[in-house]
Amino acid sequence: MIKTKIQDALNKQLNAELYSSYLYLSMAAYFESVNLKGFAKWMLAQTREELVHAMKFYDYIHERAARVNLTSIAAPSAQWDSPLAAFEQVYEHEQKVTGLINDLVTLAVSEADQATNNFLQWFVAEQVEEESSADEIVQKLRLLGEDRNRLFTLDQELGKRIFTSPAAAEGE
Ligand code: FEO
Repeated sequence: MIKTKIQDALNKQLNAELYSSYLYLSMAAYFESVNLKGFAKWMLAQTREELVHAMKFYDYIHERAARVNLTSIAAPSAQWDSPLAAFEQVYEHEQKVTGLINDLVTLAVSEADQATNNFLQWFVAEQVEEESSADEIVQKLRLLGEDRNRLFTLDQELGKRIFTSPAAAEGE
């Protein structure tokens, strides 16, 4: 059993991960609308990855014999001025999520909840990757500027991203 304070904070993060998934799904739809199929595919993979993150919280809350409490998910934006504007928001959003994870770690440590701290360390490492991959795409988009050919090349590159579900990765 975990303290109510920790249970509430974990539920809040479960909601934040679901919001991330919803935000990236909205970005996938935006990229579809401007015919950038590779960008859309990348965003769909990211949407699924965020669902995996959310389910990690869902499972962990149950493992600790606590109660999952689902609340409303805020509506994401539906439109961006450019691919760069969308990816700048991804980068900003991931930095915000890193802050939320760090706050959770601080809470777990202050409540002497070692198991929760240990569980959260996976997310600490994951956020380094999340920020880095978003920043890399922002930098590429800044470099290509208005060059449509290079945008098309990047679209093809991002379209190669394949989502691997954790179950498939474990050979289940
Ligand atoms: Fe769940 Fe993109 O962090």
